Amino acid sequence: MVKKIGILLLFILAGSLGFYCALKNTKPKSAPLVDGSMRTYHYPSSFANSLKNDPKAGEKIYREYCAACHAPQPMIDINAPARGNKVLWQALKQGLGEEGLWQYTLMGHNAMPARGGCFECSDEQLRQAMQYLENAQGMPLTESNTP
Ligand code: HEC
Repeated sequence: MVKKIGILLLFILAGSLGFYCALKNTKPKSAPLVDGSMRTYHYPSSFANSLKNDPKAGEKIYREYCAACHAPQPMIDINAPARGNKVLWQALKQGLGEEGLWQYTLMGHNAMPARGGCFECSDEQLRQAMQYLENAQGMPLTESNTP
């Protein structure tokens, strides 16, 4: 009898410990820094929910998704046109037009993934991110983002 109660107590203890750990683990963890002060975390659906009615959605999507490749000093260095490289973006806009850039953003282009990797973003949010990326002003040209 005593043994049974002991085992039962052990189960209750282990169960509550598991529950406590699960509760503590629900918060997003921070990950490496990209493009200055940004911190990313990868809970895409809660991230997408947090963007609703946020006037800074474009910038936040850029930091969460696009910056990995499009930051002036990107984490993934595969020659994506850098944010703030005005000369290059002007040429791209002239060559492809806003609509052409939009089609590439939607469908991907060479190493550029479809929707920039943000499959949870609405079209409108994605367009805001694209505009944030292509219209950056006043960032100095550095060696890594000159054409
Ligand atoms: C995995 C890396 C990667 C990510 C993430 C990424 N891009 Fe790109 N992007 C590229 C590369 C590489 C190119 C150049 C493609 C080419 O022209 O060959 C590019 C090009 C572009 C272009 C110019 C059109 C073109 O194809 O030349 C736009 C606009 C663009 N990306 C928007 C975005 C947006 C908006 C996001 C975020 C929502 C994003 N990208 C995320 C790699 C990436």
